[in-house]
Amino acid sequence: MKFPAAFLWGTATSSTQIEGHINNEWTDFVARDGTTCAIACNSYHQYAEDIQWMRQLGVNAYRMGIEWSRLQPEAQGPLNQSELARYVDQLDRLEAAGIVPMVVLHHFSNPSWINALGGWTNARTIPAFVDYATRLAAALRGRVRLWNTFNEPDTYASCGYLIGQFPPLKKGRLDCFRAVIRHMAEAHERVCRVLRQAGSPLGKVEVGFSKNWTYFQPYRKASPWDALIAAFIHAQLNSLVMKQFLGGARKTASTFLGVNYYGRIRFNHLRPLVPTCGFSRAELARMGIECDDMVERYPAGLESALRELYQQCGLPIYITEHGSSSDDEPFRERDLMDNLGALHRAMEQGVDVRGFYYWSLLDNFEWQFGHSKKFGLLSVDFHDQRRARRLKPLGQIYRKVCLENAVGG
Ligand code: FCB
Repeated sequence: MKFPAAFLWGTATSSTQIEGHINNEWTDFVARDGTTCAIACNSYHQYAEDIQWMRQLGVNAYRMGIEWSRLQPEAQGPLNQSELARYVDQLDRLEAAGIVPMVVLHHFSNPSWINALGGWTNARTIPAFVDYATRLAAALRGRVRLWNTFNEPDTYASCGYLIGQFPPLKKGRLDCFRAVIRHMAEAHERVCRVLRQAGSPLGKVEVGFSKNWTYFQPYRKASPWDALIAAFIHAQLNSLVMKQFLGGARKTASTFLGVNYYGRIRFNHLRPLVPTCGFSRAELARMGIECDDMVERYPAGLESALRELYQQCGLPIYITEHGSSSDDEPFRERDLMDNLGALHRAMEQGVDVRGFYYWSLLDNFEWQFGHSKKFGLLSVDFHDQRRARRLKPLGQIYRKVCLENAVGG
């Protein structure tokens, strides 16, 4: 299965998960396994080494975070020049390695002065973010052409305000969830226009947000309560977010849609059938549910999601995240191949997909699960201050895909 000549094959990371030495709402957060993001993968200091690894992997793209709290530690102040210089150096090294960056502006974290205002529940965060993006675009327009405004607003708002798993750890606040989505969608529209207006000497500026696409379904079709809860979650996390970000006049702001696809969550007696909610993988397997450490795998869903989303919004798509977490590398390989097969089928049917970013380059700080969930193409030794990296078998497999621009054969 060949892919188009200009196809981007990349990996993805985020600042809080890999950099370490960060000052945002995750700094004091202790994950379920007792770990924190204090050092994470130490990529703040080891980014040059990470780029060497990317070179070895043969990728031609990298989706990376630039951390707002580093660049603007004071309310609407000037960008911190030494932090900016570090990111500029990172971008220059990527360029030298022939790796195209896609910069994510918001990935689950804010500067403290934004959190003190109530974060994204407060409409005043919108102009603050637009101001930041305007300054950043002016500073980086010569080096960045692909921009990703928000990563998974649905995950951020639901984990922070509905299920209490991300800071600020609120539960059942549908009002806050909706306010966050509304404000982020407005900020997205304004920032898209700012970035496109700023332009880039590198070519046409592309900008979009990344939607986590999870299918929510009842385990037994005949169960009305499970069907109801699945439909409710789908309406809030999928339909509402798509409508806010891409509905009406907003449709013309983005130039692409980012899709993060992992799989599906099915409900049984109102409980999500996933390993993170108290079921073992073996128990789920007996029910016909194949999972990685996080969610049910559902490669066929990638094909249908791409078709549905493309039909709905008509924008080119980047798969801005896909990956699996497991110690079982042959399982991860099968899973990747099945998902790439689904991607290829969708493209054959006319869906305009421009790139695929594997989540993640490194085992990292997986939010509420800490170091216990391992999505990396490379492992990281978290017992070693130097955070030594090692290529995993899946890294070799992915390398072949990237270099051949093809799957199988
Ligand atoms: C996505 C997040 C990313 C990582 C992966 C596993 O929802 O965007 O930061 O946590 O899941």
